[in-house]
Amino acid sequence: MTTHPLRSQPVPNSWDRRGLPGWTYHSPALFDLERDHVFLNHWQVVGHVNDLPEKGDWITYDMLGERAVVMRGADGEVRAFHNLCRHRGARVVDGDRGQCRGSIVCPFHGWVYNLDGTLRGASQPTSFDSMDRAKFGLKPIEMQTFHGFIFLRFHPGPQADIADLLAPFDADFAAYRTADILPVATPYWSTELPVNWKSVRDVDNEGYHVPLAHPGLQDLYGRDYRDIFLSDGLNISIGRYGDTPGRLWSVRHYNRLSRARDHLPPHLAGAWTYYGLFPQIVFAFTPEGVQYYHEIPLGPGLTRLTGRLYRNPDESRQERLARYLAMRIDRDTSAEDQQLSIWSNESMKSSAFDNFHLSDLEWGLRRHHDDLRALLPVMKLDTPPPEDRMAAVNQEMLGATG
Ligand SMILES: [Fe+2]
Repeated sequence: MTTHPLRSQPVPNSWDRRGLPGWTYHSPALFDLERDHVFLNHWQVVGHVNDLPEKGDWITYDMLGERAVVMRGADGEVRAFHNLCRHRGARVVDGDRGQCRGSIVCPFHGWVYNLDGTLRGASQPTSFDSMDRAKFGLKPIEMQTFHGFIFLRFHPGPQADIADLLAPFDADFAAYRTADILPVATPYWSTELPVNWKSVRDVDNEGYHVPLAHPGLQDLYGRDYRDIFLSDGLNISIGRYGDTPGRLWSVRHYNRLSRARDHLPPHLAGAWTYYGLFPQIVFAFTPEGVQYYHEIPLGPGLTRLTGRLYRNPDESRQERLARYLAMRIDRDTSAEDQQLSIWSNESMKSSAFDNFHLSDLEWGLRRHHDDLRALLPVMKLDTPPPEDRMAAVNQEMLGATG
């Protein structure tokens, strides 16, 4: 058996097997706290530098009222800005992705920005008295890259710089050569579910449900699946495939076509691997390509599930076929998980729900809840404080623990 070189943190011998109380899945006031303390101040992945091959190429990323545009400048540099004209706040670009030729023109009144975000000029500039253009550039957003992937953070937060934070993933991402990957033909997917974002995470954060809920994955790698828990909200999961021909059509053909790339080390060849980052990002690799997926919370009971897919740059026909089959297995898995998320989320409003009773195999779920409670200790309370006291009670509890 090939084992991953990283050592994991062991699951404790005995632990409180409960998770977050049900009210945390539908409180609007808690959701507001999550916005500021879980999402906007933690690193979010928004794409890859190869999504922006040409000068003026851009992609956008909206989250909880903040709007980013990531653009490649005339100098070849990739930068992130608030997608917000300094005149009246309009979106300077509209859509998921596109290209600006030479300049960014705000669609509202025609203010013109250079591709590096500096203001070139307002329209009818004489209608403003003296205006210092240097003060009206698009506002930058903190941005860092990791093996080609672009991360940004809307507000300062508790996590380290991305290269330090993701250092435990460094060797594997280098082995997969993610700096060179290219977006696939339809690189972006998105769907909305009527659930709290944590119900999506709760399903994704454990492999205990795989044998029953995911016939495809179970057929592919159900005999050798492991979770590795690391510090700082990181985890790795590995499923090794190819030891049996496979019963299902897609798995059987995938097993036949998939070839380990020569440059992959033994612990990554013949495996599907998942690299998780708190609060809600997963990079999922097969030898044929990688996708990342994450949840964009839209409201306490509404979540956008979305991701981007990439392939190897020198893809053969056989590898492309294997990648399609992997995508097909993954699409089925995702549909199965979406149904489980809906059922999980519904339970949170039932009077019969007495909290979770978790298996050792669900330690990843519990760890995620612990990380959330460390940021927002009010989530430790079995009964919720009044909505209008949520922030104050959380602040008191933070003071008591700090
Ligand atoms: Fe699942």
